[in-house]
Amino acid sequence: MNRTALVTGANRGIGKEVCRQLLQQDIRVILTGRDLTAAETAADELSSYGIALPMRLDVADRESIDTCAAELVEQGINVDILINNAAVLFNSDSLEATNEEWEDALVINLHGPIWTCRAFVPAMTKRNWGRVVNVVSGYGLYSQALASSPATYGVTKAALTAFTYKLSHEVPPTVKVNAVGPGWVRTRMGGQNAHRSVEEGAWGIVRAATLPDDGPSGQIFRDDKKLQV
Ligand SMILES: NC(=O)c1ccc[n+]([C@@H]2O[C@H](COP(=O)([O-])OP(=O)(O)OC[C@H]3O[C@@H](n4cnc5c(N)ncnc54)[C@H](OP(=O)(O)O)[C@@H]3O)[C@@H](O)[C@H]2O)c1
Repeated sequence: MNRTALVTGANRGIGKEVCRQLLQQDIRVILTGRDLTAAETAADELSSYGIALPMRLDVADRESIDTCAAELVEQGINVDILINNAAVLFNSDSLEATNEEWEDALVINLHGPIWTCRAFVPAMTKRNWGRVVNVVSGYGLYSQALASSPATYGVTKAALTAFTYKLSHEVPPTVKVNAVGPGWVRTRMGGQNAHRSVEEGAWGIVRAATLPDDGPSGQIFRDDKKLQV
């Protein structure tokens, strides 16, 4: 059976490349963005790889998540794979970051993935199959670069990693919930000096999205290697 994946923040960067690689595996893709036109443009650009359905989903706007979920139900489309990719990064330390930066980072990087999980994971549990991938970062890991991270980013990604672990213990083993750090990737967020291409960064996310039934859950990966918290 062909699966369906929903990717947030998929209009550019790693999210768009994740969509491309999923389409290459014949997985149906719901390509979401906070701006519908940008999502439509990205879906058009990927049309030679397969059909991606563009939809508006602003992870900071709970109503837009619920509307998107309701539209998919209406169209009879089940989301089997959820990829929480959308995020923002502000370059400031804890006490210098503005209230707005803290609020945006908390809402977009943490609340958004929680809300999308609440919208799509119960149906995965009911259907007894699901894959959730939360895109995290070495900046959110104590074992890597949390100490030197941009504060609002590092702290919210650390919390998203914790949420991944916690949720993985609340769902049946047929629903796998993992976190993937793509490494330092050349995107608008990563900048042009980053070591990795979007293809390399997306690979591990797609791998976690397509894990076999005996695959792991509650883990953090870079590519196919486990990372420590
Ligand atoms: N690049 C790296 O080196 C790197 C390293 C570690 C982890 N990551 C993670 O990888 C993921 C993708 O990053 P990237 O490098 O591809 O970043 P990017 O090029 O900056 O893309 C970020 C995406 O998130 C979207 N977004 C932001 N706020 C949103 C919202 N409220 N609702 C929906 N979408 C929203 C953006 O949409 P707009 O176009 O509308 O702004 C854009 O599509 C992120 O989770 C990031 O933290 C990246």
